[in-house]
Amino acid sequence: MSHAPAVLKNLEANDAAAIARLVDWLKIPSISTDPKFKAPCREAAEWAAAQLRELGFASVKLVETGTIGSDGKGSGHPVVLATSTPAASYKGPHVLFYGHYDVQPCDPLNLWEADPFSPQRKPADPGHTGKPGDDVPGERLVARGAVDDKGQVMTFIEACRAWKQATGHPTGGAAYTVLLEGEEESGSANLESFVRQHEAQLRKCNVCLISDTGMIGRNQPAITYGVRGLAYTQVTLHASNQDLHSGLWGGRCPNPITELCYVLGQLHDRDRRITIPGFYDDVRPISDTERKAWQRLCTETGLSAAGTLSKIGLPPHADVGESGYSFLEREWARPTAEINGIWGGYTGAGAKTVIPSHASAKVSFRLVADQSPEKITKLFFAWLESRTPPGCKWQLEDLHGGYGVTTPTESAAMQKAVRAIAKAAGREPFLIKSGGSIPVAGMLKSLLGMDTIFMGFGLDDDRVHSPNEKFELACYRLGMKCHALLIDELVS
Ligand code: BES
Ligand code: MN
Ligand code: MN
Repeated sequence: MSHAPAVLKNLEANDAAAIARLVDWLKIPSISTDPKFKAPCREAAEWAAAQLRELGFASVKLVETGTIGSDGKGSGHPVVLATSTPAASYKGPHVLFYGHYDVQPCDPLNLWEADPFSPQRKPADPGHTGKPGDDVPGERLVARGAVDDKGQVMTFIEACRAWKQATGHPTGGAAYTVLLEGEEESGSANLESFVRQHEAQLRKCNVCLISDTGMIGRNQPAITYGVRGLAYTQVTLHASNQDLHSGLWGGRCPNPITELCYVLGQLHDRDRRITIPGFYDDVRPISDTERKAWQRLCTETGLSAAGTLSKIGLPPHADVGESGYSFLEREWARPTAEINGIWGGYTGAGAKTVIPSHASAKVSFRLVADQSPEKITKLFFAWLESRTPPGCKWQLEDLHGGYGVTTPTESAAMQKAVRAIAKAAGREPFLIKSGGSIPVAGMLKSLLGMDTIFMGFGLDDDRVHSPNEKFELACYRLGMKCHALLIDELVS
């Protein structure tokens, strides 16, 4: 007999409490990149561990990462690790549920309507009827981490609560390992050594499940079958050994800002292709099947370059990028180079006539199969060296990287996820890719050969990483239902 009806009833009965619990977690400012928030990061990890313990997960613990100090605490943020012991009769796959409890910094703070860690429950925007096709925000929670990723992790935890109430077992007898990372937003610096140290335990898992991606739109659920990789660098160009008077020295020596801009300006050619020799060598071409599927997706969903651009305040002719590829192909299957920040010289009030001694930029590359982040960073650094402006010196830093992944869509586990979403949402999920990156997926694939299913519930106007990040309650509820029904697929 299926427990699904009872589980879904529990979800409905728990609705207000489930929202209240998420609000509680969102109040903890777990910004992983900023050392000032080290204590709240641990607090957020402890909070999640307490939830898992309460639900009856076995061996729930915080695993220290980085260098362990004399107080027994790691230099990195702890990983939450837990398992749900399967019922003796369980025959399905062992699922590794991954999520992250850390969040992005909140700046610029003045653009937030309220404190980012005082979650606000906002009503649906006027005109929103909650019907399919409505394209204005519904009822939502506004807070840093609402959708990325605490709200999405809670869709799973709350599904477990409903199963626990119905069967006494948090995953209804299915085998799950839970891994919640605290450094995803800052580059997962300690994750690889964590994975290596827990290789034996992780090898028991057959497939990874992540809720940290989005859907096509409201009432348009999706499974993401691929994310891009990332190579992130910081480069500084040093010129004179001191800042100079731009009148006395202008025209006599290199200005590092001008030179840096000149070099970085050569990253793309006129077709907006990246000019670094060898950059495209390992890029897997887009198959005809994918190309056609993505065209069909646009026709079916009304997704278009112009439509998505208009939402960010850009006209249709701003649809620019590598020539020869559609907007979806460029996001999902082509590598890119981006300058994420650039600085140097005088940026204060008023004017100052100066030639600075150095200038810096953050430069990152989104990668696709089968590009290696290490190799791309090496090629980029060599390319910079070969363009060193006269008398200048580069200081080059590799900040972090991760591999992209593509998930086979035919697997049994994928089919279970498809069925769970279809039942929860009343329609089949679209199969999409995302241009974003989730480093753990590439790590699990390359170290353990494990594939990842991305079952996410975000919307493209959720303002991930931006002020007023939100998670819509309809998405939260759909997520809980999908996880609950996926467990049902696993145990039936
Ligand atoms: N959850 C996002 C990635 C994402 C968002 C994928 C939406 C697909 C749809 C994740 O938390 C993230 O921001 N990743 C970073 C990775 C980086 C910091 C290593 C990214 O993509 O920039
Ligand atoms: Mn995320
Ligand atoms: Mn993120």
